[in-house]
Amino acid sequence: MKEISIPFKQIGTIQTPYYSNAPYQPVDTAEDNFSIAINREYVDGLSDLWKFNYAYVLFYAHKAQGRAEMVVAPPWAKGKKVGLFSSRSPSRPNPIGLSVVRIKDVKENIIFISGIDVFNGTPLLDIKPYIKDLDNKSDANYGWLDELDNKEHLTLHIKGIPHEH
Ligand SMILES: C[S@@+](CC[C@H](N)C(=O)[O-])C[C@H]1O[C@@H](n2cnc3c(N)ncnc32)[C@H](O)[C@@H]1O
Repeated sequence: MKEISIPFKQIGTIQTPYYSNAPYQPVDTAEDNFSIAINREYVDGLSDLWKFNYAYVLFYAHKAQGRAEMVVAPPWAKGKKVGLFSSRSPSRPNPIGLSVVRIKDVKENIIFISGIDVFNGTPLLDIKPYIKDLDNKSDANYGWLDELDNKEHLTLHIKGIPHEH
């Protein structure tokens, strides 16, 4: 099948304290400042967003390097290899990331958010509200994570939750 090229616009920029290391997933309790600056031309699109507690943030992992591998070993999973599309790796054919964050405030073109797992300056592709019940599947499971010996401990690493070893 012929591949088509799909153009996306950067609609804003994500501001974080992370320059070379970022958590594997958003850390809700991170105390630094996290925000998203929306380009001025889209600011009217932010009305009513403050009414939601959470939002999906879709971003372009602009620092992903090299060709995307179809089998990956997530850095926290002790060498386990899985298919790329069963992982949350940022190195993908389309390096699009998805994070759920708490909306703390919206002022003019800035959304103040809880911790997000991206490098400072990451281009924003889209924002969508996270809607109770609609976005929460009661029978969601852990997939291949159930095959890990110490899943509970490793998921603390993924979520950046401090714990004793
Ligand atoms: C495992 S990914 C998860 C991203 C998102 N929560 C998801 O599930 O799609 C998070 C990692 O992506 C990497 N990362 C963050 N921002 C990036 C960027 N702008 N370009 C490339 N890699 C990035 C960091 O190493 C971070 O630890």
